[in-house]
Amino acid sequence: MKRFYVSINVSTLFLLLTALISVGICENINETIDNLFNNCLNNVCDMIQCPPVTECPNGEIINSASLCGCCPLCVSYIEKGELCGQGPTAAASLCKPGLSCNKDTKRCDEQNGPCVEERNHRLSLLENKDYNFTESLWLPECDSNGNFKKKQCKGSKCLCFDENGNRIFGLAERALAENMTCECSREMWKRKNDEGLEWMTSPHEHCDSMGNYDELQCKDEICYCADPITGDPMGEATHIAGFHLLSCYNEETHGKTYLRQCEKQLYRAQSLTYQFHNKGIRILGLVNIACGLDGTFDLKQCQPDRCSCTNKFGASIKSYTKEKSSGITNKMICACARDQNDIETNHARYPLLDCTDLGNFKEYQCFGDECFCVDRDGVQISQTEQLVPEVVGNCIKMDKCLYESSEC
Ligand SMILES: *[C@@H]1O[C@H](CO)[C@@H](O)[C@H](O)[C@H]1NC(C)=O
Ligand SMILES: *[C@@H]1O[C@H](CO)[C@@H](O)[C@H](O)[C@H]1NC(C)=O
Ligand SMILES: *[C@@H]1O[C@H](CO)[C@@H](O)[C@H](O)[C@H]1NC(C)=O
Repeated sequence: MKRFYVSINVSTLFLLLTALISVGICENINETIDNLFNNCLNNVCDMIQCPPVTECPNGEIINSASLCGCCPLCVSYIEKGELCGQGPTAAASLCKPGLSCNKDTKRCDEQNGPCVEERNHRLSLLENKDYNFTESLWLPECDSNGNFKKKQCKGSKCLCFDENGNRIFGLAERALAENMTCECSREMWKRKNDEGLEWMTSPHEHCDSMGNYDELQCKDEICYCADPITGDPMGEATHIAGFHLLSCYNEETHGKTYLRQCEKQLYRAQSLTYQFHNKGIRILGLVNIACGLDGTFDLKQCQPDRCSCTNKFGASIKSYTKEKSSGITNKMICACARDQNDIETNHARYPLLDCTDLGNFKEYQCFGDECFCVDRDGVQISQTEQLVPEVVGNCIKMDKCLYESSEC
């Protein structure tokens, strides 16, 4: 086959198309453009020679802004109050930093939303000389609606978050988190909340430990190999009984049955609860099993009378157990206990930090006589100092200030 190499000035082409839309020359221009963008041939980029783009002083270099995403373009920021979101590419919503494209007014406007609020709270703490927060204080990354981005990296870890800034399933060491997306984690978290009692009354998709889609998925009775980014089925599918026949099956990671140890227990309990609920009967005293979205046991497991921090196989870790009657089991996060356990058993590279008897990170941490304050994920938030009695009090004050804004 003969190949034609054409050199297109992509930005000119883009401007031309944009102009065509605004003039309305062609009735179906929107469709035409969508087609151009959606139906790009696999090898179309091979046929385009891109002009080099190196500088972009008042904007951003965006790949998807050019036709078929082949070439990088310098796209200028849209100013406050100007139109945005008009067109099929990311460039159309490129508001100046600190602004976002308002969906209703279709204009760039100041952001607000839970993430922007949290970010501003933290920025003001950094400026407040009465406290000793340092630059290592984590600032959340916000999406264009002012909500938390799915993946947030702080200290030596990356974690998955919901839109409102609550930590959800999914964790990786920062150095290994390059391909972490939290897409699966976010999606399954939403579904879990939507489904309520119906959750886990049949097998559902698995995330991996960093919140991406597992390569092998089963939904109800059907199993398939999936794209790890989108979770979409690719090619083959099979009945759940033959899930080990799929090409993406790996005995070491997927085990002998699709449902993992924690999920099997959860499935039994949920199915019972759901069946009886449909008959108007509430079952009392069922053990409340908490599974991660990869099917392993959650950080904390509660029996009717007590809660414990557990490892991913559901075994209690050391002494991190509290009776419900103590009234403080709802304060157990267990993130520190799990980190300690991971370091001991999996040689994870998190710094070894001290835990409280609730399995949470202590507000202050010392290595020798060098001490500093940490947040509730174990990330350093103050300078390193000699241990003096005030350090402990200061760290507790900073913790309150960070998490209970009223105390600040
Ligand atoms: C194309 O899309 C724009 C923005 O979404 C809209 O305002 C316009 O009416 C559409 N044009 C046609 C011909 O459908
Ligand atoms: C900040 O640090 C200084 C010097 O280390 C200390 O004297 C002061 O009490 C600290 N203040 C707070 C609120 O932590
Ligand atoms: C991320 O994905 C790329 C492409 O598949 C791969 O080459 C790279 O090793 C991955 N990075 C990590 C940290 O796993």
